[in-house]
Amino acid sequence: MTSTHRFPVVVLISGSGSNLQAIIDGAKRGLPVEIRAVISNRPDAYGLQRGRQAGIETAALNHQDHADRESYDQALMRLIDGFSPGLVILAGFMRILTPAFVRHYAGRLLNIHPSLLPNYTGLHTHQRVLDAGDRLHGATIHFVTEKLDGGPSIIQAQVAVEAGDDADGLAARVLEKEHRIYPLAIRWFAENRLKMDENGEVRLDDEKLDRPVLFRPHEPIG
Ligand code: GAR
Repeated sequence: MTSTHRFPVVVLISGSGSNLQAIIDGAKRGLPVEIRAVISNRPDAYGLQRGRQAGIETAALNHQDHADRESYDQALMRLIDGFSPGLVILAGFMRILTPAFVRHYAGRLLNIHPSLLPNYTGLHTHQRVLDAGDRLHGATIHFVTEKLDGGPSIIQAQVAVEAGDDADGLAARVLEKEHRIYPLAIRWFAENRLKMDENGEVRLDDEKLDRPVLFRPHEPIG
C-alpha cells in the first residue's frame, strides 16, 4: 500500500503514549495508517512528545479548562473532526466519554483496556487481578459503545500471572502484549476487514465475531 492510500486516524492519549508509539512504529513498518493528529487532555502527557518527535501534529485540550463533560467532549469532537479521521483510537485516554461523543463516532472508535474484558472494567486492573488470585490476565481491544469498557471485544492477548508478581511487573508484561494487538486491530479496520454495525455486531473478514480473537504470538493472524 502506498502512502497515498493510508487510512486517516487520530489518536487520543492521556499519558505515556507507549501504545501510540507502537502505532507510530507500526506505520513505519507498513501499518497502512496516516496518524493525522495526537490529542491529549493532559498538556504534560509524554505521548505528545512522542507525537512531535515523529513529526505528527499534536494538540492538548485540557479538560480542566471546560465547565463540564459535555462542553469538553463537544470541543474535542470539533478538534478531532478538523482532521477528518476514519478512525479514532483511544490509546490510554483516561476520560469517561459522553453518550453524544460515543454516538458521533459509532463504529469508528476503538479502545484498549488492560484486562480480559468483561473482567475488570475500570481502573487498577492489575492490582485487582492480583488481589483476586487470578492466574490469567491480559488486554482487550474493543469497539467503544455507551457502556463503559463494555463495547464488543475484537482481540485479546493473555498473560499468565506468576507467583511473586506485583502490579507494576504485571502491567509491564500486559503492556508488551498491548503493543502487539493494537496495531493488528487497527490494520484490520484500516483494511476494511473489521466492522461494527448499528446493532453492535462485529464482523472480521465477513465472519461474525461472537468472541474476541485470541492473540497467539507465533501464529500469523494479521
Ligand atoms: C494502557 O495500559 C492502556 O491499556 C490503559 O492505559 C495504559 C496507557 O499506556 N488504558 C486504560 O486503562 C483505559 N481504561 P500508554 O499511555 O503507555 O499507551
